[in-house]
Amino acid sequence: MPLETNTILICAGGACISAGEESVKDVLERKIKEYNLQDNIKIVETGCMGACSLGPIMVIHPEGVYYQKLTPEAAEKIVEEHLLKGRIVEEYLYQGDKGKIVPQPQKEIPFFSRQVKIATRNVGIIDPLNIDEYIARDGYFALHKALKEMKPEEVIQVVKDSGLRGRGGAGFPTGLKWEFARKSPGDEKYMICNADEGDPGAFMDRSILEGDPHTIIEAMTIAGYAIGATKGFVYLRAEYPIAIERLTVALNQAREYGFLGENILGTDFSFDIEIRIGAGAFVCGEETALMHSIEGKRGQPRVKPPFPAQKGLWGKPSNINNVETLACVPPIIYHGANWFRQWGTEKSPGTKVFALAGKVKNTGLVEVPMGITLRELIYEIGGGSPTGKKIKAVQTGGPSGGVIPEEYFDTPVDYESLQKLGAIVGSGGLIVLDEDDCMVDVAKFFLEFTVDESCGKCTPCREGTKKMYEILDKITKGEGTEEDIEILENLGNVIKDSSLCGLGQTAPNPVLSTLRYYKDEYLAHVREKKCPASKCKALISYVIDPEKCVGCTACARVCPSSCISGEVRKVHEIDQSACVKCGSCIEVCRFGAISKVTPAIE
Ligand SMILES: Cc1cc2nc3c(=O)[nH]c(=O)nc-3n(C[C@H](O)[C@H](O)[C@H](O)COP(=O)(O)O)c2cc1C
Repeated sequence: MPLETNTILICAGGACISAGEESVKDVLERKIKEYNLQDNIKIVETGCMGACSLGPIMVIHPEGVYYQKLTPEAAEKIVEEHLLKGRIVEEYLYQGDKGKIVPQPQKEIPFFSRQVKIATRNVGIIDPLNIDEYIARDGYFALHKALKEMKPEEVIQVVKDSGLRGRGGAGFPTGLKWEFARKSPGDEKYMICNADEGDPGAFMDRSILEGDPHTIIEAMTIAGYAIGATKGFVYLRAEYPIAIERLTVALNQAREYGFLGENILGTDFSFDIEIRIGAGAFVCGEETALMHSIEGKRGQPRVKPPFPAQKGLWGKPSNINNVETLACVPPIIYHGANWFRQWGTEKSPGTKVFALAGKVKNTGLVEVPMGITLRELIYEIGGGSPTGKKIKAVQTGGPSGGVIPEEYFDTPVDYESLQKLGAIVGSGGLIVLDEDDCMVDVAKFFLEFTVDESCGKCTPCREGTKKMYEILDKITKGEGTEEDIEILENLGNVIKDSSLCGLGQTAPNPVLSTLRYYKDEYLAHVREKKCPASKCKALISYVIDPEKCVGCTACARVCPSSCISGEVRKVHEIDQSACVKCGSCIEVCRFGAISKVTPAIE
């Protein structure tokens, strides 16, 4: 067998694919063939490597050189220079602060080096289509240990002792949930994996399934053994075709290797898994709605209790867990509860994967120990503001979450601490906001999502969220009153208390939390018709400073409504009645002559 001199890991996560990963890979393959190196250089398409803003990314081993923002031309050069001549191509290396070139940022840059990878331990490292690579990283060892050395109750005890809590939003103790399902009477039980991942901007579950599908198969089989189920379902949304494809391949491989199916590993335990594809409705992530959807019914929630552990799929006891929760299970069983507890806090042990987005330099997926502070996450890992503007707040937990102002950034990220501030860990969305973000507009953005996604079954959620949205819309247009703010607050609390499921019960959170910390912004909108962040179009105007305008005509040339007039080398002017407030002019002005003013000029 020829000796492999290099392995190229190329990120085939969603962001890298959309940034052109496939064409980079095609060029790599072609050039490697051209130089007859195909027996010595292996190309592996991995799951998401995390640093989505740097894609397409590849890492060349054994050196571990990390290339970023690749193009087909870059791929050609890297083959010719790095692979043929051993010379690192500097222009495609990571550039740290102050432009320092870093060939192995994984070792030096906090975005990579501060992470602790448990749920995503194999993502970006192994070939997700190759079961042997999973086994080589201790894959299926935990299943072997559970089935051969432990009773189901012992498995549950380890999960309970580890303190693992649900990563799908509510943070419920996983071991306890398994115990309820185990103790619930019934010959037939079901194990369900919730891979619906409806939170906008969240893609941690998808990345795990795409990058390490076997971990979910192993975890579900262990859970099935623990609760006494013989059948499992992965509920996966149709928008995730790569995850569906890789999981399907992995399921077949697991069956072939005897990790799934009849008499697993020669024991008398049999278990198999089916994929059920959801159409992508947010409410179908709610556990009772999800089960209705698997049963072929309309995906609407029902009243709890009875809980799924008592009456779940087809009325049988069922256990439902999120993808990231499950991905923590095999290492917990393999290494033990205390191993997991070495990270995180007493009440929130372990790690959490976050999708870091918004006004930070480093965006993408990060897995960090629970208890890390928001400041560390935003400034050390996220790298702080890319523009130097002041970071104002962070929105956590997606549409069910809330905002946390900068003064609370030293708060540790755990379930209780964030809840006390009116926000949640949720599924792990983190959107960093700066002085250009209007809090009323942020609340409106999230509420628009829940209004669209409300299933309509209960009145508070169906009608109430719509009413709240209308009021927010009025306020952002400068048509709101102080009474509207009061109505928003009261209505929000009523919807929280009276909605049937978690969707309605949490929908007002973004509004209530922005009202809690940024009421002054709401008041500025209604009293002074001002948007302090100069974001709400109806409340701003663009103006040209005659002192700074040199008459270069750049603004007039890009204006889509031709509302800027003026001769070359003479001060320009904006016709406010025709301005559509698109902001194109401000972007092209090189003299800082255009600014936004609020309230709007009549
Ligand atoms: C409207 C709504 C949407 C939800 N969407 C998801 C989802 O996409 N994925 C998920 O794992 N949990 C979601 N949940 C939470 C699940 O209902 C459930 O609590 C979770 O899957 C349990 O697994 P865990 O204990 O491992 O977190 C959602 C809940 C609500 C109310």
